[in-house]
Amino acid sequence: MRKISSLEDIIGIEHSKLGFYQELQQHIAKLKETNRKLDERQNEIQVLLNGLTDMMIVIAGDFTILRTNHVFRDFFGSKKDERAYCYQLFAAKNVPCDNCPVITALHTNTTIKTSLIHEINNNFYHFDIIATPLELAGEQAVQIFYRDTTRDKKLQAKYNQAEKMATVGTLAAGVAHEINNPLSAIQGFAEGIHRRLHKIENTIDQELFNDFEEYTKIILKECSRCSAIVRTLLSFSRPQAASLNPLDINKSIQDTLFILKHRLQEKPQINLQLKLAKDLPLITGDEAQLKQVIINLCSNAVDAIETKGDIHITTQKNRRNNRCGIDFTVKDNGYGIIPEIREKLFEPFFTTKPIGKGVGIGLSTCYSIVENHQGEIIVESEAGKGAAFTVFLPENRS
Ligand SMILES: Nc1ncnc2c1ncn2[C@@H]1O[C@H](COP(=O)(O)OP(=O)(O)OP(=O)(O)O)[C@@H](O)[C@H]1O
Ligand SMILES: [Mg+2]
Repeated sequence: MRKISSLEDIIGIEHSKLGFYQELQQHIAKLKETNRKLDERQNEIQVLLNGLTDMMIVIAGDFTILRTNHVFRDFFGSKKDERAYCYQLFAAKNVPCDNCPVITALHTNTTIKTSLIHEINNNFYHFDIIATPLELAGEQAVQIFYRDTTRDKKLQAKYNQAEKMATVGTLAAGVAHEINNPLSAIQGFAEGIHRRLHKIENTIDQELFNDFEEYTKIILKECSRCSAIVRTLLSFSRPQAASLNPLDINKSIQDTLFILKHRLQEKPQINLQLKLAKDLPLITGDEAQLKQVIINLCSNAVDAIETKGDIHITTQKNRRNNRCGIDFTVKDNGYGIIPEIREKLFEPFFTTKPIGKGVGIGLSTCYSIVENHQGEIIVESEAGKGAAFTVFLPENRS
């Protein structure tokens, strides 16, 4: 039996159809080639898209997410698929955000460049955004590139803070010197009067003498207070030569709490709890300065609790920014910190306390001491629920 080798064999004598068949074959070949080129092109586009390090999303006019790239899926997890509303994902809202770049880009039909802060899973992210209107399958849409600048913004904030501290330091040093001279004179003369007072004790009315004695004592006490403030101010610009020694932070905390005993006695309903890790490494630091940090943080915690509350002091080994070290945390459940003042906490002279209660140099002092120790201070707080200040100190200085 003859073997059928091709379609032409089957068609046999139907020559009239052969021309059509050949044309069809050519079309199929062309289509295959076009498909191959399309696949190649699609792969190229995919490679380019995968190379993007910014998050890319295409959002429809009704705010549904139409297309995403791998950065989006890495960020939100692959389950947060397309067709969700952008405001649900980025802002956990049920309505579009204020200053929505999708609305502006569609409205003006221009590319919009802007920056936005989104709170995603309880973390704040800064994004630089470029939104370009486009048409996708006949539908009006906006392609948005999100560049995560959170880290840069944090570094910038730290740099600004350091700059500000340096400027304020120079200013504070000038003022402190100006105050120091008259203060020394007042203190000196008050001591002179106090020493000589007994010479007139029997020559004037006893009540008047007692008043004089009390007044000079008050002058001297207030002078010492001012001297302490001036000394702190001077430490901003000219940090006292730190005497660095290996030290046990747990012991420093225990010693400091001994000094703080009288402050704690003012509010007997405060429950102080210590949880100090036993396996802490020694850190290289200036004990006197670090005790000052502990005092300031604990005093603030005591102040933050109206009458009754808890203060937890904890220490633990930790690793931050590739450096081994220790964390010590002072956490209270006092009035907490409202978001509006978060940025200002470490500014010298920033205080929310009434005159006579706070000068506003506690936290700024802590900041410069911790900076000098190459450490970090992290604040966590919710208004009305309390605050936690964590100080990280590296084990070894670089
Ligand atoms: N644990 C805390 N809870 C709530 N607010 C705090 C806490 N610690 C600091 N603050 C806020 O930060 C501000 C600045 O604190 P800082 O220690 O620098 O100054 P101060 O306590 O007001 O005065 P000073 O420490 O000079 O006596 C405080 O006035 C307070 O508003
Ligand atoms: Mg304070």
